Amino acid sequence: MTDLRIEQPESDAALKDWQHVHNVIIPTATLSLNEVRERAQRYHLEVAYLGDVLVGCTTVRPPTSDTSTATVIARVLSSHRGQGIGGELYGRGIDHARTLGATTIETIVLASNVDGLRFAHKHGFVEFERYLLPGDSVPWITLRLA
Ligand SMILES: CC(C)(COP(=O)(O)OP(=O)(O)OC[C@H]1O[C@@H](n2cnc3c(N)ncnc32)[C@H](O)[C@@H]1OP(=O)(O)O)[C@@H](O)C(=O)NCCC(=O)NCCS
Repeated sequence: MTDLRIEQPESDAALKDWQHVHNVIIPTATLSLNEVRERAQRYHLEVAYLGDVLVGCTTVRPPTSDTSTATVIARVLSSHRGQGIGGELYGRGIDHARTLGATTIETIVLASNVDGLRFAHKHGFVEFERYLLPGDSVPWITLRLA
């Protein structure tokens, strides 16, 4: 996929692009721009473009001091799925998590997200736990790379 450009969002425009993909895919837990800025400090965020067209984003939550578990989440806008973009974003996220010292990789998928669950299972993740956040009706599923 030669036209795929993946970068860390630093400008407001890029942070807004990351926010857009996140909020379209997870409408039950939208983030404000300030919340995205705050995440960019704690997590490794990336945003992906096909040429100049926004197509996806990722989050890598690094391992904390008391655990070697990192969380990798890839998101691709529905009109751009099925072309290998998710696989490429995931691969980069997992590579990055490992360079940060992660020995266990988790991902998180909304239970209603059929594409996300199938993708995670195909990439070797198995369900670890599911939980409902206060006020939510659809559970989140944490999956762990087997
Ligand atoms: C999970 C997600 C990132 C996958 O994105 P994607 O860009 O569609 O991923 P890929 O294209 O790499 O793989 C998806 C499918 O396309 C297929 N595919 C990949 N390249 C292809 C190509 N060139 N031609 C045809 N099919 C292709 C893959 O084999 C895969 O098949 P499957 O659906 O039977 O498993 C996307 O569905 C998404 O954003 N979901 C919501 C967010 C989410 O749940 N993220 C966390 C879970 S991983």
